Amino acid sequence: MVVVKTIKEVRETVKQWKKEGLSVGFVPTMGYLHEGHQSLIRAAGENDKVVVSIFLNPMQFGPTEDLASYPRDLERDKEKCLESGADLIFAPDASEMYGDNFQSFVDMNLLTQELCGLTRPCHFRGVCTVVTKLFNIVKPDRAYFGKKDAQQLAVIKRMVADLNMDIEIIGCPIIREKDGLAKSSRNTYLSAEERQAALVLSKAVKKAEELIAAGVRDSAEIISQMSAVVDAEPLAKTDYIKVVSLDTMQQISKIEDSALVALAVYIGKTRLIDNYFYEGE
Ligand code: PAF
Repeated sequence: MVVVKTIKEVRETVKQWKKEGLSVGFVPTMGYLHEGHQSLIRAAGENDKVVVSIFLNPMQFGPTEDLASYPRDLERDKEKCLESGADLIFAPDASEMYGDNFQSFVDMNLLTQELCGLTRPCHFRGVCTVVTKLFNIVKPDRAYFGKKDAQQLAVIKRMVADLNMDIEIIGCPIIREKDGLAKSSRNTYLSAEERQAALVLSKAVKKAEELIAAGVRDSAEIISQMSAVVDAEPLAKTDYIKVVSLDTMQQISKIEDSALVALAVYIGKTRLIDNYFYEGE
């Protein structure tokens, strides 16, 4: 496995692979890898070569968000990439990615105007811009994203279709701790008490799953029962609990063939997300 810091080195390596007729899978990350990322890297192993980027993208953090405290450990990340079968790590610094006088952005309407887009207004502009740049640098055949960031996955799929990017986007299942908590780099912020309290997210998701399996289709009913689960935990404060269309990320009052049930909850100062993809019976 090779670790490179420059765009030039990635391009040269991938160019050589393509010359040899090899396919390339790509897993973009912000580092501090956990089993969720490792499952994406393993899934990308269906390609001949796997590239992982590790770049804590300042553009997708708001001024009051956790960029400064976001966990980082490149040595640990290298081990996790090696264990999971990555061939190349691209770990640029911000000056390599944005240089001087950066002025171009990729933005999106509609899909970014709900859920996390409301609480984090510039977030998806930062995500779309950096992912476009990474796609242009790596030129993968396939790219892998976790379903935990369900809105991000929908946004990236829309962007790739809208901008005719010749890349297959693959959504991979949420990886959970044994007790149900969805794996996240931000879980490291939680105290022992908060870690226990954070279980309300997966409990609320389970409640939604049970209700839908029992035939409940009314979004207000699902949201109300999920809210009751979250509100029972004193350390939890709901940011949103919503039922939205899988394609448009707009709220729906009644579930027809498919839906995304998504929630964001503050546990103390840490904002966590979780969701349930209902894709029909
Ligand atoms: O999901 C993430 O870790 C980030 O949003 C991504 C896709 C790597 C872009 O910075």
